[in-house]
This record gives sequence, C-alpha cells and structure tokens, in this order.
Amino acid sequence: MVMITPRFKKKYLFLCFFAFQFFLMFYISWCPTEDLSRMEKLVLIYQKQIMTQDLELKKLKVPVTRPKIYYGTEQKILPKYIKDLPYIYAITPTYTRLEQKAELTRLSQTLLHIPNFHWIVIEDAITKTQLVTKFLRNSGLNYTHLNALTPKHYKLEEKDPNWLKPRGVLQRNAGLEWIVTNRNNKSNGVIYFMDDDNTYSLKLFDEIRFTEKVSVWPVGLSGGLRFESPIVTNNEVSNWFVYWKPERPFPMDMAGFAINLNFFLQYPEARFSLRVQRGYQESTLLSQLHVKLNDLEPKANDCKEILVWHTRTEKTKLKNEDKLKLKYGHGSDLTIEV
Ligand code: UGA
Ligand code: MN
Repeated sequence: MVMITPRFKKKYLFLCFFAFQFFLMFYISWCPTEDLSRMEKLVLIYQKQIMTQDLELKKLKVPVTRPKIYYGTEQKILPKYIKDLPYIYAITPTYTRLEQKAELTRLSQTLLHIPNFHWIVIEDAITKTQLVTKFLRNSGLNYTHLNALTPKHYKLEEKDPNWLKPRGVLQRNAGLEWIVTNRNNKSNGVIYFMDDDNTYSLKLFDEIRFTEKVSVWPVGLSGGLRFESPIVTNNEVSNWFVYWKPERPFPMDMAGFAINLNFFLQYPEARFSLRVQRGYQESTLLSQLHVKLNDLEPKANDCKEILVWHTRTEKTKLKNEDKLKLKYGHGSDLTIEV
C-alpha cells in the first residue's frame, strides 16, 4: 500500500488547486459565450471581473478572500440576488394617466429578469396613489416607493406639447436623495434613470452594472433620428452623433447613461434642475460630477448596439365613453382598475 505522507498530501493538494485555477481561467477566457444563457454569461462576466481585480490585488500583495458564486444551470427562475454582484438602482418617475398601469406592467415584467435590482419609483403626485402602491406590492420586485409633486407652474397642461416643460425632474431628484440618504460608499452599484415608457433590453443591464464612473451607449428612436449615440474612437468617446442641440456638454438622452453609485456619492449634492433649458437635464447632472469626455465608458459593443429605445405610447382617446353614457346612462365600470 502506498503511504501518503502529510507533506506529500499538501503538495498534491496545492497542485490540484493550481491546476483547477488554471483550468477555470482558461475556461472563462476562451469559452464561446454565444451558447450560454444570459444568466451564465452574466456570471462569467462577473467572474472575469473578479479575476482581474484579484490579479491586481495580488500585485499589490493584498490578501483576498472571495465568496464563490453558485449558479445551477438547471435553474429556470432567475435568482433575485447574487452575492457580491453590484446592484442596479433604477430611478423611475411616473404619473397618473390612463396608460400608467400598462406601462408599469410592461416595465416591471422586464425588471423581474434582473438580479440585484432595486427599483425606486417616484410618483409625480401629492401623495402615493393606491394604484401604484398596490401595483408595487404585487410586483415581486425590490422597490422603494416615493412621491414628489411637480409644482403646477412647471406641470404640462392637457393641451401643451409634451416638450414644453421638463418632466420627471423633481422625481429623479427625490430618487437621488433617497440613494444619498440610504446608501453609503460600502454599497456597490450603479444608478440608472429609467423613464416608465421606454423599452429596455435585458442585455443592457448586464453591461451597465460594471460602470466605474459614467457609462454611455446609444438610444434608439431618439432625437428625431433612428438612434442617437456617442461616437467611439479607439474605445473612447470622442464625439456625439446627434442632430438636436449638439452644442450641449452631454448631448444624450436620459436612457443613455449610468453612474457608478460610489462615484456619485463623491458629489452627493448633484441634482437635476427645473430651471435649465430644454434638453439640458442630462448635461446639468453630469457637469456636477466633473466628468470629461474621455472619462465616459462606452457600452453596448462600443456603442454599436441598440439596447434601449425611446418609445412613446399613444394617448388613449375615450370618445366612446361619452357616447355610451348618452345611450345607456352610464360609462364603463369605474370600480374596475385599468
Ligand atoms: C424625454 C426624455 O427621454 C426624458 O428623460 C426627459 O425627462 C423628457 O424628455 C424631458 O425633456 O423632460 P419624453 O418621452 O418626452 O422624454 O417624456 P415622458 O416619457 O413623458 O416623461 C419622462 C418621465 O417623467 C416618465 O417616466 C414620466 O412618467 C415622468 N413624468 C412625465 C412625470 O413624472 N410627470 C409628468 O407630468 C410627466
Ligand atoms: Mn417617454
């Protein structure tokens, strides 16, 4: 019988450990990602990120102990939480109108697919409405529900064109306020401003989660073009592909950038403003973060892929409600929530 001495055993274990590490690194760097599910890809991206960080820490001789990510391929329902994965804090202004529940339903069902996600929903209302309260309670999402009323003077009137006054400004600020108050520099995450009516690909969230300062990407159907986009040269943003007001410091849509949470916390006072020219909201906020063009991190395949669309929902006309009332004495049942 072969005797395994404790010394030999130790050596043997070490060898196995290194061989396994080597195999893992090789696998992660070379395995073809097209065949993997979205969640598997996400975990791989995350592992790659950790490995690079670990290598850097090793160079600095800082000891690292990392918890492992466990992910079963048989898992059908996406996990809501993956240890150590940076959080996405999405800030969504919303307001009462006929289409509100439909918009929130569509959006929330996208968001259910995203792990480590916190939805901050701010109603443009004097108090929280029953509709949104119930909706969020049943959404299955991690959320914070707030309200902040836009003063009447700044609010769009029924007949106003929708570009006349800024929308969602105080609501996004209330969301930022919540983050600054409730999160600190130990929280790992990214802030993204998501309007309630846009269309978001799940792929977008996997990319923006790893923003270091501010990341940017194209937005489809925006600015009267097929898309608006940062122009990327040698992996850096060099200019902007926009028609409307290209002179703005950051000529892009609210849906086209994300901010690292810790980076934002270095400028905790940064806010949007009701008093800036149309189209200058994004520039107002980003200027307060002192970011320069070459600080911006291009995402979405060097800004060549469209992963978010500035969609708009047509206003519903209720012309037949009145006709129904005339004919039958009553319209549709108002106790049924739409
Ligand atoms: C465009 C941009 O995509 C917005 O990010 C920007 O805030 C807006 O223009 C602007 O310039 O103010 P657009 O589709 O025209 O967006 O605006 P909406 O989708 O009607 O509103 C943006 C967000 O504000 C939505 O989440 C909406 O629910 C919310 N909103 C709108 C309010 O909270 N209150 C309102 O009275 C209207
Ligand atoms: Mn919109």
